[in-house]
Amino acid sequence: MMSEQALTITIKPAEASQLEMLEHEFSPDTLSKPHYPRYEVQQRGEGVYLIAWHDRTPVGHFLLRWSGPDDTRVIKYIDVTHCAYLEAGATSAAYRRKGIATALIREAERVARAKGCTQIGLEVGSTDNPEAKRLYEHLGYGNWGQGEFPINWEYIDKQGNRGTESEMVTYLHKRL
Ligand SMILES: CC(C)(COP(=O)(O)OP(=O)(O)OC[C@H]1O[C@@H](n2cnc3c(N)ncnc32)[C@H](O)[C@@H]1OP(=O)(O)O)[C@@H](O)C(=O)NCCC(=O)NCCS
Repeated sequence: MMSEQALTITIKPAEASQLEMLEHEFSPDTLSKPHYPRYEVQQRGEGVYLIAWHDRTPVGHFLLRWSGPDDTRVIKYIDVTHCAYLEAGATSAAYRRKGIATALIREAERVARAKGCTQIGLEVGSTDNPEAKRLYEHLGYGNWGQGEFPINWEYIDKQGNRGTESEMVTYLHKRL
């Protein structure tokens, strides 16, 4: 009989020595190097960049900011005192639907609570990301009820071309 090997995942804060590997594993198609600024958030003491590992392979990540959301459209409507914020979450395609994002979010919530946060929020694409939306809803995150708003970000592709992308997002949140 074939027995299925249970997947053992470890979640730890990112370390400086791992950043090149994280860029290579998670973001091979961009020169933007997105993992470095997430690590800097952690270095500034504003949050933690949590990495999920399967043996020596990084398989997922989420950035928790216990300093809270800084998007003006969110701050305008929400009392962000003692509010944590989750962003930059993803699981490698081959490791999805195994509970990795769930484990990362649970760990982020535990850390946020330990830091004295009483609520936590995140932004999710309003139309094109039903999987992420369903996952967050199952974890108790609810729509903030203030509608959608656009977010923009800059990137540099493999050829070195700069570009801007934008997306409509919704803010979801829950009490901790
Ligand atoms: C969204 C994303 C982060 C989810 O990551 P993930 O590690 O697959 O998430 P999980 O495995 O914890 O949960 C996904 C689903 O698998 C289910 N699942 C968890 N463990 C499972 C298992 N052992 N067997 C089968 N299904 C399982 C979960 O219940 C969940 O189901 P739901 O969608 O009905 O709630 C991932 O799809 C991703 O990287 N997408 C692209 C980037 C992105 O969209 N990021 C979020 C931006 S807001």
